[in-house]
Amino acid sequence: MQKKIFIKTLGCQMNEYDSNRIYDSVKRLGFEKSKDQNNLDCYILNTCHIRDKAKEKVYHEIGRVKKLYKKKNKPIVVVAGCVAQAENQEMLKREPYIDIVIGPQAYHMINDKLKNFIKDNKIEETEFDAVSKFNYFDNIENKNNKVSSYLTIQEGCDKFCSFCVVPYTRGPEYSRPFDKIISEAESLIKNGVKEIILLGQNVNAYSFKNKIKEYRISDLINKLDSYEDLQRIRYTTSHPRDMTDDLIECYSISKKLMPLVHLPIQSGSNKILKIMNRKHTVEKYLEIYEKLLKANQKVEFSSDFIIAYPGETENDFNETLSLVKKIKFINSFSFIFSPRPGTKAANLEQIDKEIAKERLLKIQEYLFKFQLNKNKSFINKSVDVLVENKLDGQRKLFGRNQYMNSVIFEGNKNFIGKNLNIKIENVNQNSLFGKIEKNNMRAA
Ligand code: SAM
Ligand code: SF4
Ligand code: F3S
Repeated sequence: MQKKIFIKTLGCQMNEYDSNRIYDSVKRLGFEKSKDQNNLDCYILNTCHIRDKAKEKVYHEIGRVKKLYKKKNKPIVVVAGCVAQAENQEMLKREPYIDIVIGPQAYHMINDKLKNFIKDNKIEETEFDAVSKFNYFDNIENKNNKVSSYLTIQEGCDKFCSFCVVPYTRGPEYSRPFDKIISEAESLIKNGVKEIILLGQNVNAYSFKNKIKEYRISDLINKLDSYEDLQRIRYTTSHPRDMTDDLIECYSISKKLMPLVHLPIQSGSNKILKIMNRKHTVEKYLEIYEKLLKANQKVEFSSDFIIAYPGETENDFNETLSLVKKIKFINSFSFIFSPRPGTKAANLEQIDKEIAKERLLKIQEYLFKFQLNKNKSFINKSVDVLVENKLDGQRKLFGRNQYMNSVIFEGNKNFIGKNLNIKIENVNQNSLFGKIEKNNMRAA
C-alpha cells in the first residue's frame, strides 16, 4: 500500500524547488503526495530562517501537527530547510515530537533516513555536501509538469552580507554542471513546462568550468533560448556584483528572457551598503541599471530593501527613497532589519522600533504607488500572458504577463500552457483583470 506524505514549504523559491525534488525522491520508497494532513505516514516541514521568529514558527507548526495526531499513530516528523541547518541537534532536544532534522545540503540522504528510521532513534543530518546532493538528484527525474517550473542551477553564498544567515544555512557557493542543468531543463520541457525560472541564492554568480570553457548564466540562457517548446526564461535572485556584460547582453539578444530584472540593492546609502558588506555601491547599481535599459528599453526593475539597518540615519533613509523615486521599481520586497543569530549585524545597536515602522511605511507608500502606476499603464492595452492554471471553483484563468503580474480573465481550461493576448480592463496593486482578445491567433 502507498504511504502518504505531505511537505509544508515555508521561505523562498529554492525551498519550493527542494520540496518538489524531495517528493520525486521519496516516491521511490512508495510515498505518495497527500493533501490530507490528518492521515499521514510522514510530515515534512521545509523551513526558512531569514527573518525573526523563524524558530518559533517551526515549533508552533510542529505543535499543530502534534494536536492532529493526539489519538492516532504519529507520522514520521521531519524538519528540513534553513532552520534545521541552523538549529540542528537543538531541535531534537527541545521538541521530542520531531524525529529527523535534515539540512538543505543533505537531501540526498532523505530516502535512507526515512527507510532506516526506527522509532525513538532520532536522526540529525546537517552536512554540507552539495556535490553528492546534486549527483543524487541528477539521477532522479524532475517530474514537475506545471506551466512554470523552478530549476536550481546554483546554491549557497560566499558573500557574507553582515545581516544574512544564508551563507551559514546553505553553505558555500556551488554551481551545478552545465550539461546536467540542460538535461533537467529538457526533461521539464518534455513534461510540458513552458517557463523555466533559474534559481540560486546568487544565481548570476553561476560559474561552471570544464575542459572546454567556463559556463556562465548567459550560456544557460542562450542555450535555453533555442528550445522551441519553451516560451519564457527568468532567473532569481541576482546580485549586483555579478551582473556581468554577457548577462546584460542577453536582454538584447534573447527572445525568451523576460524583461523584469529582480536586482536587490537593500539600501540607497553607500555608507549603509558598506556596513552591510554588500560589496557594491549605489553608483555601480545605477551603472548596471543604465546598461540594462540600453540593452532593452522594455526592462523594468524590482528589488529588496532592508529598512532601519543599524546606523541608518534619516539622511541615509532619504537616499534610499531618492533611489526608489529614480528607478521606480515596479515590484519590491521591503522589510525592517531583523537581527539574526550568528551574523555580524546581530549585536549592533538597533534603530528605535517606531522610527523603523515609520520608515517602512514611507518607503512602501512609494513602492506601492509605482507598482500601481505601472499596473494602470496596462489598462486598455493588450498584454502577452502565459496561462498557468484555472482558479479554484471559478470559470477564470490565471496567468502572468512578462513582468510577473498576475492576470485574471475568463476562459476555457484548454488555454492552460498557451500564450494569449489579454486586453486589460481593470487593475489593482497586485493583479490585472481583462478579456481574451478576439483575434487571438497566438492561442491556436
Ligand atoms: N542573495 C540575494 C541578494 O543578495 O540580494 C538575497 C537573498 S535573501 C534570501 C532575500 C532577502 O532577504 C534579501 O535581499 C534581504 O532583503 C532580506 N533579508 C536577509 N536577511 C535579512 C535580515 N536580517 N533582516 C531583514 N531582511 C533580510
Ligand atoms: Fe545573503 Fe548577501 Fe548572500 Fe544574498 S549575497 S544570500 S543577502 S549573504
Ligand atoms: Fe529562507 Fe533559506 Fe531561502 S533562510 S529565504 S529558505 S535560503
